[in-house]
Amino acid sequence: MKKVIIVNGSPRKNWNTAKMCESFANGVKEADGEAEIINLYDVDFKGCRSCFACKLKNGKNYGKCAYPDGLTPILEKISASDGLVVASPIYCSDVTGVTRCFIERLTFPFFEYKEGYPSIAPKKLKTAMIYTMNVSETLSNQMYPDMFDKTEFMITTVFEKPVRIFAYDTYQFADYDKYVVEVFDKNEKLKQKEQQFPKDLQKAFEAGKNMIESIR
Ligand SMILES: Cc1cc2nc3c(=O)[nH]c(=O)nc-3n(C[C@H](O)[C@H](O)[C@H](O)COP(=O)(O)O)c2cc1C
Repeated sequence: MKKVIIVNGSPRKNWNTAKMCESFANGVKEADGEAEIINLYDVDFKGCRSCFACKLKNGKNYGKCAYPDGLTPILEKISASDGLVVASPIYCSDVTGVTRCFIERLTFPFFEYKEGYPSIAPKKLKTAMIYTMNVSETLSNQMYPDMFDKTEFMITTVFEKPVRIFAYDTYQFADYDKYVVEVFDKNEKLKQKEQQFPKDLQKAFEAGKNMIESIR
C-alpha cells in the first residue's frame, strides 16, 4: 500500500489547516492509499543546528540528519514513504516558523554540495503543499508574489515539484464578536467559510486521490 505522510504545521488541530490535511488524507484513503497526519506542534524539535554531520566526508550520517530529537523518527518515516504533504497557515507573510524548521531538517541533508546540487534523497517523493491564510486570493497574489516558490525551493530540489492547494480568506475566530477585528467583515468571513471552504476541502481531497493515482 502506498503511504503518504501529511505534516500539519499549524498549532490548531481542528481548524482550517488541520481540516485541509484530513480531507487530503481522506482522498488518499479513497484511492486505497495509507495516510498519516503528523501535528508538528506536538513534536519536540528545533531547526537545523548546523552541525554538518550530514555533509561530513565518509561520515556515517552523510545525507542524513543526525541530530537526535523528536523529529528523528518522523524523518525516517518520510524517507520510507511514497508521498509527502506539508501544510501550513501563513504567519507574518510566510509559513509558520515550525514548518520552516521542519523543511530545513528534512531537505538540507539530501542537498549535496556538489556540481548541480544533486539530491541524495532515498526516493523522489511526490509532494504537495497546503497553504491557508486570512487574505483573499487577489491580495495573496499581490503580497506574496514569490513566497511560495521560495518556501518550496528545497522541496522541489530534493523531491518532486509540489502540487499547491490553497484556502484563502479563512475563518479565524470561533466568535468574531469577542475579538477586536475591525478590518474583516464577520458576515463575509462566514459566507466564505460556508460556501468556499467546502470547495477548498474538496480540492484537497482530489489532490490526495491524485497523489496516490500518480504514484501507481
Ligand atoms: C501569528 C499569526 C500571523 C498571521 N499572519 C498572517 C499573514 O501574514 N497573512 C495572512 O493571510 N494570514 C495570516 N494569519 C492568519 C492565518 O494564516 C489564517 O487564519 C490561517 O488559516 C490559520 O490556520 P489554522 O486555522 O489552521 O490555524 C496569521 C495568523 C497568526 C496567528
